[in-house]
Amino acid sequence: MAPVKVRKICCIGAGYVGGPTCAVIALKCPHITVTIVDLNKARVDAWNSPDFDLPIYEPGLEDVVRQARGKNLFFSTDVDKGIEEADLIFVSVNTPTKKSGVGAGFAADLNYVELATRRIAAVANSSKIVVEKSTVPCRTAESMRTILEANSKPNCRFDILSNPEFLAEGTAIQDLFAPDRVLIGSLQTPEGKDACEALRSVYANWVPSERILTVGLWSSELSKLAANAMLAQRISSINALSAICEATGANIDEVAYAVGKDSRVGPKFLRASVGFGGSCFQKDILNLVYLSESLHLPEVAAYWRQVVEMNEYQKRRFSKRVVDTLFNTITGKKIAVLGFAFKADTGDTRESAAITLIKNFQAEKAFVTIYDPQVPHAQIWEDLKEASPHLTLEQIQKQVTITSSAVEACNKAEAVVIATEWKEFREIDWQDIHSRMSKPAFLFDGRLLVDAEKLRTIGFKVTTIGRGEVL
Ligand SMILES: NC(=O)c1ccc[n+]([C@@H]2O[C@H](COP(=O)([O-])OP(=O)(O)OC[C@H]3O[C@@H](n4cnc5c(N)ncnc54)[C@H](O)[C@@H]3O)[C@@H](O)[C@H]2O)c1
Repeated sequence: MAPVKVRKICCIGAGYVGGPTCAVIALKCPHITVTIVDLNKARVDAWNSPDFDLPIYEPGLEDVVRQARGKNLFFSTDVDKGIEEADLIFVSVNTPTKKSGVGAGFAADLNYVELATRRIAAVANSSKIVVEKSTVPCRTAESMRTILEANSKPNCRFDILSNPEFLAEGTAIQDLFAPDRVLIGSLQTPEGKDACEALRSVYANWVPSERILTVGLWSSELSKLAANAMLAQRISSINALSAICEATGANIDEVAYAVGKDSRVGPKFLRASVGFGGSCFQKDILNLVYLSESLHLPEVAAYWRQVVEMNEYQKRRFSKRVVDTLFNTITGKKIAVLGFAFKADTGDTRESAAITLIKNFQAEKAFVTIYDPQVPHAQIWEDLKEASPHLTLEQIQKQVTITSSAVEACNKAEAVVIATEWKEFREIDWQDIHSRMSKPAFLFDGRLLVDAEKLRTIGFKVTTIGRGEVL
């Protein structure tokens, strides 16, 4: 049997991964019709909005959607029609950490993957290649295959591939246009290899062949968890060193520079910060911890768990440093938090360090003002409500205000905390901000973003992650 020529793709899940990934596939493969389906009507409506008010912010995304939407790229809530018509289906639904039941707090909640898989089995009237795009525990493809085969109609064959997504939010379009690698995992059977070739030929429209890696299914699934665990581990390692820097007077930037010059280590991802966030790192490591425990590998589980614990420690440590520096109390003081997204160039707030910081400041009875250039105010309220379920929104709003500019947030504030590395915070007129703040004016740089020396000459009392003035 020759590999299928892919003509119609359906992507289940129009989120941060499904949306950009399949929009880029549509742009790069004009001969393929791509339909992205989602149960969330508001999200689909936003993808279809006439003025391109898309549901996620990602540099370059609007341009891609403008070029392909209505030609060979479609967004729809009609999941069944999308499945029926496609020869290849990406499953790109969310796989959050389980909140209850067995493995709560660690294991991935595979309910959305299972529901999407069952829908494919129920609706498909012809053979399909089903591609696991969501990040899932090792051997999930096997469960998907079992569900599909047990429910398939005669003459319907399902081949399962794993094709984890390595894009980083904030640079998603750039990453999709020129990926370091595309990974495709398949069963090493003739049918599995044919399915792999069908997907490979889609990516081959713009990705050089040496960057398309084909491996076994389980290696592909595990590689995604491994990649995220190792990236997060680098951040926790540099953050652990930042604590030593603060205690000794060493400078984390200098240490990172010196360490990164070793070609075996490399310079990337060695930037100390208030802690990593995002929907993936913590979730995927906890998933790996759970997997290790399930496989009776407690030492391996403990090793990876420590990466997450170090991240929690970093956020606590930073919050405490704010309180300590402000003469051991922030009760009744106004703290401006600049940035709410988990990193720059995204509007995504999932697991953002800012949420933890603000919660800690609330607990200390400070008044907090928040400014972020991209995150919708409603999202901020939703996140703060979820972080403090014992408080009503009205109670939260007595302590927290969201502003429409950094200047407004900092007005009469005792301290400014930089929580996200938005470029505009580097370019702010800090002289003006200083003139509007209570004195002494404190600034806490949780992202190594601003020129501390320059700000000190303006009059700020600056505290930077990984820099101690102790010795
Ligand atoms: N966000 C990232 O940076 C990133 C990067 C790589 C991999 N991933 C992985 O990709 C997957 C998706 O992540 P995301 O950030 O896009 O999530 P998301 O929550 O933004 O999007 C998932 C979408 O799937 C939809 N959905 C869920 N079940 C459905 C169903 N049965 N039918 C139709 N639609 C359904 C939801 O409504 C939602 O819009 C996750 O497994 C994640 O771990 C994410």
